[in-house]
Amino acid sequence: MELIVEIEQRVMMLKLNRPEKQNALNLALYDGLTAALQQAAEDPQIRAVCLSGEGKNFCSGNDIGDFLSSGLAGLERSVVPFLHTLAAFPKPLVAAVQGNAVGIGTTLMLHCDLVYIDDTARFKLPFVDLGLVPEAGSSMLLPQLVGDRRAAEMLLLCESFGPEEAQELGLINRQLAADELQGFAYSQAQRLAAKPPAALAQAKALIRRRNAASLQQTIDIEAAAFARQLTSPEAMEALTAFKERRAPDFSRFD
Ligand code: COA
Repeated sequence: MELIVEIEQRVMMLKLNRPEKQNALNLALYDGLTAALQQAAEDPQIRAVCLSGEGKNFCSGNDIGDFLSSGLAGLERSVVPFLHTLAAFPKPLVAAVQGNAVGIGTTLMLHCDLVYIDDTARFKLPFVDLGLVPEAGSSMLLPQLVGDRRAAEMLLLCESFGPEEAQELGLINRQLAADELQGFAYSQAQRLAAKPPAALAQAKALIRRRNAASLQQTIDIEAAAFARQLTSPEAMEALTAFKERRAPDFSRFD
């Protein structure tokens, strides 16, 4: 089971369970997450969702093997629907993040209402280094949150950063001890699940109102650019280099 779905006291717990690949999201995981979020949105018995990853790492991003094998079809069929579902999710979403949070592992945090990490958390947005472009609305949400200068360090230089910077930039709520992380995130989700659900949903919608329409549009604009780049020689070189465990060589590109 690559996605563990459990419901306890009105909280849906979603756990990425592909630790041998650092919880990289393959198409099955995207589809599983989309279905689970849709179920959680519709079921009045579910009041909050808590997202976490099994093992030492939260999520090492989109599965690079899938990029190479399913490319555009996978993007359209599984990735983009997930991003729209995530961005429109109407109930509170809490994340517990440890270890690597790469690519979508970081950008999905921008859609969570509360984010908790431990001291092993490490974030990276390597889209450009992979010959790709930012996704999940991050080209809009990240500059809004951290300003254009820091966003350029993250999205153009693809610099990784750790817990202190994530806290300072307002990307996370709190850093916890490793053995407290999961329990604390779940208890926060439980606190939310005990609140009046209509008021909570409206408050979340109001917080996110300024972006609601433009966010879905941005996801589509990014996806079109992402699709163009995914089939480019630049991306092929970068993705193949990852598979072959060698450094990419972009010197031949204009
Ligand atoms: N897609 C597919 N497989 C991935 C993966 C990904 N995004 N991230 C990690 N893996 C796999 C590795 O291929 C390796 O598999 P193997 O043991 O069968 O060879 C395994 O997970 C462990 O990864 P490894 O690279 O050995 O671990 P590490 O601790 O040295 O490095 C990362 C961790 C996350 C820095 C590194 O794996 C990485 O850069 N991954 C790609 C991240 C990425 O670019 N994601 C896409 C963003 S759009």
